[in-house]
Amino acid sequence: MSSVIRGRIHNQARALAVCSGVFITGGVIAGCAAQPGEEEEQVTFNSAEQDVTVTAVAGDPLPGITAADFAAAKAAFVTVEGLDDGLGPIFNEKACGNCHTQGSIGGAGVQIERRFGRFDSLGHFDELANKGGSLRQLFTVGAFTGSGGQACNVPLEVEPSEATVHNVGRLTTPLFGAGLIDAIPDSVIIANANAQPSSVRGIVKSVKVLLPNPADPSQVLNGTKVGRFGWKAGIASLVQFSADAYINEMGITTQHCIKGASVLSFATESKPNGIAQPAGCDDRGAGGAGIPAGTDDGVGSCAGGLSEIQDDVNFFFQFMTFLAPAPRLPIDPNINLQGGTAFNAIGCASCHLLKDYVTPSNPANGVPGNFTFRPRSDFLVHDIGTGDLIGNTGDSVATTKLMRTAPLWGLHHRTKFLHDGRASTITDAIHAHGGQAAQSVRNFDALSTSDRNAMLTAMASD
Ligand code: HEC
Ligand code: HEC
Repeated sequence: MSSVIRGRIHNQARALAVCSGVFITGGVIAGCAAQPGEEEEQVTFNSAEQDVTVTAVAGDPLPGITAADFAAAKAAFVTVEGLDDGLGPIFNEKACGNCHTQGSIGGAGVQIERRFGRFDSLGHFDELANKGGSLRQLFTVGAFTGSGGQACNVPLEVEPSEATVHNVGRLTTPLFGAGLIDAIPDSVIIANANAQPSSVRGIVKSVKVLLPNPADPSQVLNGTKVGRFGWKAGIASLVQFSADAYINEMGITTQHCIKGASVLSFATESKPNGIAQPAGCDDRGAGGAGIPAGTDDGVGSCAGGLSEIQDDVNFFFQFMTFLAPAPRLPIDPNINLQGGTAFNAIGCASCHLLKDYVTPSNPANGVPGNFTFRPRSDFLVHDIGTGDLIGNTGDSVATTKLMRTAPLWGLHHRTKFLHDGRASTITDAIHAHGGQAAQSVRNFDALSTSDRNAMLTAMASD
């Protein structure tokens, strides 16, 4: 038996060498499914090179941050905020770490957020921003004594009657390895699309950077960058996601400085269903000297070309940047090879790439250089028939159906799958795929029991 294992693994090493060609720094070579008449490519589901063994358990940091700094960043991530810290007027939870929990702090979660919207007569999406859309926060701070001693009572946000896209769910995603994803150069994601056969080719989601990491020259304030975070790849920068989550999940508003410019995109309190609360009645956030009125936290004056990210947001960013990919479960190498080969052969790997990414030699966000990792995503958006019809104002129907290829690492920590958490098993998640993934699902259903079991075992071990 053991000689069979060696033989197959040896075989796989040869196939990988042919398929992967040369690893380029910061790059990945995609798209080498077997062509008709060619021998089936042998490929492991997990990467031989994947350098995640540096961590013992989920939640450990990557090299590049001191234990004390990581602990401080994590402490901010789990800090429960209240009215006096600026929580509200409406919010989804009181701490980042209250939702991102599975496997360890920073993992996925079972919380499902709600969105709504409508299509206008021309078929364009409308977020109903003036009615508090598209995110409908689930909680209000309710009745309290405002900062001036006045009686305040913030209403709960409801879905407005104008909405035609109703109560869409969004499951909490895992953050393991987020800093490695942040470090992927745009060119690599663009190359992923170019390497895909047209039937499954994804779309590069180019988005505006509203809050860059000042240390990363590829992130420019108000410039464009390839989106990669969130179910729709709608955000390109992990710093920006931190500020965005702080206001949208918790209602905590922040101001930042980028090269002397005061960034106010995350500085204005949410209005429940578009109804502004009287001054001092949004929350009791203290604000501070030089911080715009009504903003909970900030850095003040940006004079002298200052670049500075508000403290809490910077802590969240640091925590997520250095949160390592979750270690895999042990797996029989034979099953890993059989499962990966099946996954590749039936076309899952066209989108969920079975390729290693490599960080640039000196990543701007401080994660280790030349570090290989295998998130099993192309970071492109596709229509696989699951689309939730939520987008940005002005988007076409087709655009609102596009979803990011979900990375398939850390699956053993998960209990719900797909953007709305509708699937509770990997098999159910696969059967929900249609559209560009329909053929791969037909192929999945035609697999031998042995191949299918190997594939599911390999996926569940990750
Ligand atoms: C109420 C639960 C909840 C809270 C609180 C929360 N998140 Fe999330 N988080 C989510 C959900 C849901 C998503 C998926 C959002 C989407 O794509 O629409 C998400 C996605 C993310 C992502 C994108 C990861 C990826 O898959 O690409 C980042 C980064 C993130 N959150 C950071 C934070 C930070 C930082 C905080 C605290 C300021 C926070 N979250 C608080 C629920 C939460
Ligand atoms: C055309 C691209 C494409 C192909 C091919 C494809 N997927 Fe997906 N996959 C996606 C997208 C996009 C999502 C996210 C969909 C959503 O949440 O609405 C996804 C989500 C998933 C999820 C859920 C992950 C999570 O975090 O919840 C699993 C599991 C999965 N795919 C497995 C597979 C398997 C197995 C195959 C082959 C049978 C496959 N996929 C083929 C694009 C693809």
